[in-house]
Amino acid sequence: MTSTAQAPKTGARTAQPEHLGHVIFIAAAAAMGGFLFGYDSSVINGAVEAIRSRYDIGSAALAQVIAIALIGCAVGAAYAGRIADRIGRIRVMQIAAVLFTVSAIGSALPFSLWDFALWRVVGGFAIGMASVIGPAYIAEVAPPAYRGRLGSFQQAAIVVGIAISQLVNWGLLNAAGGNQRGHLMGLEAWQVMLGVMVVPAVLYGLLSFAIPESPRFLLSVGKRERAKEILAEVEGQGTDLDARVAEIEHAMKSEHKSTFKDLLGGGFFFKPIVWIGIGLSVFQQFVGINVAFYYSSTLWQSVGVDPTDSFFYSFTTSIINIIGTVVAMIFVDRVGRKPLALIGSVGMVVGLALEAWAFSSHLVDGKLPTTQGWVALIAAHVFVLFFALSWGVVVWVFLGEMFPNKIRAAALGVAASAQWIANWAITASFPSLADWNLSGTYVIYTVFAALSIPFVLKFVKETKGKALEEMG
Ligand code: GLC
Repeated sequence: MTSTAQAPKTGARTAQPEHLGHVIFIAAAAAMGGFLFGYDSSVINGAVEAIRSRYDIGSAALAQVIAIALIGCAVGAAYAGRIADRIGRIRVMQIAAVLFTVSAIGSALPFSLWDFALWRVVGGFAIGMASVIGPAYIAEVAPPAYRGRLGSFQQAAIVVGIAISQLVNWGLLNAAGGNQRGHLMGLEAWQVMLGVMVVPAVLYGLLSFAIPESPRFLLSVGKRERAKEILAEVEGQGTDLDARVAEIEHAMKSEHKSTFKDLLGGGFFFKPIVWIGIGLSVFQQFVGINVAFYYSSTLWQSVGVDPTDSFFYSFTTSIINIIGTVVAMIFVDRVGRKPLALIGSVGMVVGLALEAWAFSSHLVDGKLPTTQGWVALIAAHVFVLFFALSWGVVVWVFLGEMFPNKIRAAALGVAASAQWIANWAITASFPSLADWNLSGTYVIYTVFAALSIPFVLKFVKETKGKALEEMG
């Protein structure tokens, strides 16, 4: 049998173009979960005021109802990896698709506030699962030379999902006469916003039947022939299949299904590599990216921008987010993940620091002074652009590929779960922090963006172009 020393060069780094088209389809289908992740986590913006008035609740209770979905995400992410190691990657996508579907229907037609919250948590499980299975699956089927670019489909789908949810919310709100509870098709506008998610959810489920199981999972359950067929499908007929299988099997030798225990060790509870994954996740959230998405309208209105313009600014931020993501997709396999992350951190520090400065000025007639108003607006876009071309894409790509085969799915689950908890911490604390001091809040995010630089330099290893079997 071929040894790993000889095996890696057997076509792993090249894919014939005719197969590349197929691999692109596979990655795009798996990334549908990312689209639902983006749509579902941001659609709620359009329903907040309706929920408040329908159930007559105050801001604190409302914030809890909204934030509780993120806890569902953390739980879904924590379990997805382990379930995927037992029943396969595709089955997890199918479970997530079912959960997305029932949550869309349930949260659009709730009997009570509790019922609504319950369905949002169920949707959270689905988002959490999709956030893990997309990057893990894509990393496992992609040829190494294209893995970064294909892995970034997940983030591209997330950002498109966010933008589409903003457009749908805006369109439905206008159609309902500007009132989230205005009537449309026999329902209230907010119910339609949540309910239309059934369409991409069902599509995700259907697409999952059209794509192959991950060859690495198949080898882990002894299905060698099927694994070979899929490797030929994704890496090209010219690939030395026996050598590839030997390479993967060698790396998996002495492996068993990963459990939580496999992540432990190294003196600090988790293995160092798991901590690095958690660190990437936490920094990605602690720069405050989701404040820019979940609270953008509130943020702009608090410094004097009128509500219609604030919607417009939220949408322009989303467009910038998409543009930045495309830039990252072009460069992630050329310049590598680390340089992109570092460039992004520097740009984010500049954007966030300028926002902190602008928000530190006194409001005149409830508005920022003209110069500071422009600086705040431009700086917010600069921040989102640099996030999108770096940490947005790079973290999900890293998490999909940085862990050794043996612990990949479980470690990714833990890191993604940490990311959802960090997301929740930032989202839940922003209203109080902003009441305390908006500028001070931005100083905190600036400090985290600055600290991400030494973190990457010291702890993160480049993964560009390496076979998954070389990670560890
Ligand atoms: C990344 C983050 C997610 C955020 C998105 C914004 O996917 O993980 O929390 O909403 O980027 O583009």
